Amino acid sequence: MRVFVTGGTGAIGGYAVPALVAAGHEVRALARSEAGASALRAQGATPTHVSLFDRNGLAEGFDGCAAVVNLASALPGTASFVRLSAWEECHRIRREGSAAVVDAAIAADVPRVLQESVAMVYADSGDQWIDEESPVDHYPIAAGNHAAEASAHRFTGSGGTGVVLRFGLFYGAGAAHSEQLMALARRRIGFRAGRPDAYVSSIHLADAADAVVSALRAESGTYNIVDDLPVTKRHHTAALAGAVGRHPVVTGPGRAALLLGARTTSLTRSLRVSNKRFRSASGWQPHYASVWEGYAQMARRLDAVPG
Ligand SMILES: NC(=O)c1ccc[n+]([C@@H]2O[C@H](COP(=O)([O-])OP(=O)(O)OC[C@H]3O[C@@H](n4cnc5c(N)ncnc54)[C@H](OP(=O)(O)O)[C@@H]3O)[C@@H](O)[C@H]2O)c1
Repeated sequence: MRVFVTGGTGAIGGYAVPALVAAGHEVRALARSEAGASALRAQGATPTHVSLFDRNGLAEGFDGCAAVVNLASALPGTASFVRLSAWEECHRIRREGSAAVVDAAIAADVPRVLQESVAMVYADSGDQWIDEESPVDHYPIAAGNHAAEASAHRFTGSGGTGVVLRFGLFYGAGAAHSEQLMALARRRIGFRAGRPDAYVSSIHLADAADAVVSALRAESGTYNIVDDLPVTKRHHTAALAGAVGRHPVVTGPGRAALLLGARTTSLTRSLRVSNKRFRSASGWQPHYASVWEGYAQMARRLDAVPG
């Protein structure tokens, strides 16, 4: 089928576009720069220069598409992550961009929209499993995610198939923050934000991309895209250390991250998220069952790349 992707030049898009092409789909993708357009072409997609906020331009680009996959975001980098004002552009993309995508999809008669979201919208659940019916939380940096989810539900309300994908913590070669954590682990510095017994639910970028492909056949609704075995933060640090073969001599910021409250809550809260609904709705299953296998693959992949 013909699929239009926004955010195709990002970390997840860099895996999702080739996965869609490999699955036999004709992929068009939003490009904001010539470098982005070249990267998309190299992956077998057709770049389209259009603004995410230009409804008419988007509707033209969506012509004849059976699905639109909205992966656009602008998360602040590690250095500015805790500054709430650094999230404004990301909120705008998720709030106004998702609304424009849905309006354009309706105008172009596209039957299906997939919208990225994150599993960090759930409330802290301690060691209890979380499914899609579990309560969500409205904290400041989740505002954009809730708005984007609302856009997808509006699309469903208009008669289309709106699918929300709540991704766990991305990792893999190409995800800047996980490459930084792995570089620290090689220097024997462990990263842990929050309590050591809190859970973290992750997803390897390759499995996130396969989930995007599988979601093209899912019914309207919200789905968690996480691996099979969420781990405690203590084990998450150990999995990273094991992948690079270095025992950490220092680990942080630990419980001190809790002092920043809402600014770091997406990283400190305990999230033991289940992927059961999406597995049974789509037949998808993650290749990397947990970060133990996934970080090992990522370390091998980064070792294989010179420089
Ligand atoms: N969820 C998590 O697990 C988590 C946690 C911490 C950090 N992160 C970081 O967040 C990133 C998540 O991956 P991602 O693929 O969602 O993000 P990303 O790698 O930052 O890519 C964002 C995508 O959205 C596009 N975009 C940005 N602004 C846009 C605009 N105004 N209009 C249209 N498109 C726009 C970008 O295009 P351009 O290429 O043109 O810029 C790019 O294609 C990773 O880099 C990761 O390191 C994720």
